[in-house]
Amino acid sequence: MDSYTINKIAGAVLWSLLVIVGTKVLIEELSVPKHPEKPGYEIVLPDEKSSVTSVAKKPGDGEGVQTLGAMLKAGDAVRGKKVAKKCAGCHTFDNGGANRIGPNIWGIVNQKIAGVSGFKYSTALKNKDGTWTFAELKCFLENPKKCIPGTKMSFRGVRKPGQLADLLVYLNKQSNSPAALPN
Ligand code: HEC
Repeated sequence: MDSYTINKIAGAVLWSLLVIVGTKVLIEELSVPKHPEKPGYEIVLPDEKSSVTSVAKKPGDGEGVQTLGAMLKAGDAVRGKKVAKKCAGCHTFDNGGANRIGPNIWGIVNQKIAGVSGFKYSTALKNKDGTWTFAELKCFLENPKKCIPGTKMSFRGVRKPGQLADLLVYLNKQSNSPAALPN
């Protein structure tokens, strides 16, 4: 074979390749593409309303949640005395009791915040105005560091609402003049 023949064969092969590829492209272009009615995937988003409702149903916010008054009404001082054992390593509860790691908390309900003389409070507590209302006590004793950031009371908190109610009712009784429970 001379180089001319080789060129002819190579040319013929190239041409047929070109024709095959060209035809394929043409067929693809001409055939009607089958698009889905909506392009892309359909993403099903969760129903916003339902997720919001489920959040609101968590205890602590929104409807179906007890008021402070209802919570305290269910509280019991005898059970609360047991809950208060968690505090006894740091606090005394009796009239005229000593300050320990924490201050004596006789008569704490409606007493001035950081008001026990002779106790060295944290700046966070000293700077907090007001008195220990049931609502303030609930907030603080449920989660001390979250309620008053910077407090030096190293205590996790009483997270169970029932126990917290019992404790608050008990604390209220440790006083010369227990306060009326809120409605
Ligand atoms: C590890 C020790 C510790 C434990 C346990 C603890 N406390 Fe305290 N408590 C403290 C300290 C310390 C302070 C002072 C906080 C500050 O100055 O920031 C304090 C402050 C308080 C105050 C504010 C007193 C005031 O005069 O303003 C109350 C009320 C209180 N504690 C109640 C309780 C109760 C109720 C419990 C148990 C459920 C408890 N604490 C458990 C150490 C403790």
